[in-house]
Amino acid sequence: MNEHDSERLAGLMVADGLVPAEKDAIADVVIFNTCTIRENADLRLYSALGELKDYKKAHPEMQIAVGGCMAQKDRDDILRRANWVDVVFGTHNLTSAPGLLKKALTDGPQIEILDAPDPEAHKDMAPALYAVRELPFAAWITIQTGCDNTCAYCIVPSVRGGEVSRSVEDIMQEARMLAASGVTEITVLGQNVNSYGRDITGRSPLFSDLLREIGTVEGIERIRFTSPHPKDFRDDTIQAMLETKAVCNQLHLPLQSGSNRVLSSMRRGYTVERYMEKLNAARAAIDDLAITTDIIVGFPGETEAEFEETLAAVAEAHFDAAYTFIFSAREGTRAAEMQSEFIEDEVVAERFDRLKEVLNRSALEKHQARVGNTEEVLVEGPSRRNDQVLSGRTRQGKLVHFPVTNEPVRAGSLVTVKLLKAAPYHLKGELVSVLRAPKHKVRIPLQVS
Ligand code: 5AD
Ligand code: SF4
Repeated sequence: MNEHDSERLAGLMVADGLVPAEKDAIADVVIFNTCTIRENADLRLYSALGELKDYKKAHPEMQIAVGGCMAQKDRDDILRRANWVDVVFGTHNLTSAPGLLKKALTDGPQIEILDAPDPEAHKDMAPALYAVRELPFAAWITIQTGCDNTCAYCIVPSVRGGEVSRSVEDIMQEARMLAASGVTEITVLGQNVNSYGRDITGRSPLFSDLLREIGTVEGIERIRFTSPHPKDFRDDTIQAMLETKAVCNQLHLPLQSGSNRVLSSMRRGYTVERYMEKLNAARAAIDDLAITTDIIVGFPGETEAEFEETLAAVAEAHFDAAYTFIFSAREGTRAAEMQSEFIEDEVVAERFDRLKEVLNRSALEKHQARVGNTEEVLVEGPSRRNDQVLSGRTRQGKLVHFPVTNEPVRAGSLVTVKLLKAAPYHLKGELVSVLRAPKHKVRIPLQVS
């Protein structure tokens, strides 16, 4: 969500007449779009602001803005700790950023934080127009902001507010605009996508209907979504995934812990058994489904035996990949008050390594089982390390690298690749055929004198 907000912010700035700075050049406007999910993000913001302090003092015409979740949380504290910042805006009003920057030029530092989404500004979220995307052919669509859950470790509800769903019409308009501009892949975003629409209907969620609707947009070949909450993930979503051709065979289902006691202390609202039932139902229904997850290590009170239950659950689930996190105490959350049960850093670090080992093994096994397959890959461009190698993703979301051949293959092309070699985080292969050329328009870069 934070990355997508950054794309939208960048888009708003470009629409306002700014041009992205060259790499390593000093920009006239610097915006930090902050995340606060773990403590590290806090620390990084203030050290990054510190790095700019001397330059800003010598060049007061440079403008610095801080937005996002940390701004929402720290409000005027940001200006107290770094009085060289010009603008602070929160999570509910990123569309105000360009106006605030202008106002700051004449009126001095501006702070604008809203406590809830302004219905008008919220509507304004639509513009696919206002997004500078890393991949021009793949886009995120926010369907819902905020979260109504109360996971004990999580700061999101307090900085992003309660769940607010965008209307189906807004979302569909955005999807159609994206498709018209040549986007072929959409990732649907929300903190708890399965409850999408509950606030609109006052009763049942509309997520499965929405998936089906997006699936009707001509030109959208791949649909992904993140994240469903296991407690709300139901058969109707599995059915919609199954029946909507464009929905990819990939599911991100955050487990968090393999211990029922820890899950209950986390207030997750499901047991490991219930989670496995849902995971198995999805696997049984959807052919060749890749499943990824999130795990937190070292939640307060987690015993060695409970951690071992997580290892066992992870082994049983045969995840394709997992995002693993060390518990980070976030002020204001219930878990942050469980200080007497905090786990020592060394113990957590050791558990974290053991978990990674089990996960890597399962990821590698999953990848090895695919060697020999020929799979559809959406090409993202030259690999970061070697421009003679192209990278892309399969429908399962797996990263694939393959050598450049004589056949020209541009980013955004759909190709087939024969998979030859497996590693835990990627696969290597060779190009078999080009299914289609990119559909997005390639813009001629603006020359700035
Ligand atoms: N500490 C560690 N991990 C966290 N997450 C959320 N809050 C915390 C926290 N305080 C993780 C969860 C969530 C993912 C997005 O971030 O696993 O699913
Ligand atoms: Fe945080 Fe839980 Fe909401 Fe996810 S579902 S955003 S972990 S409170």
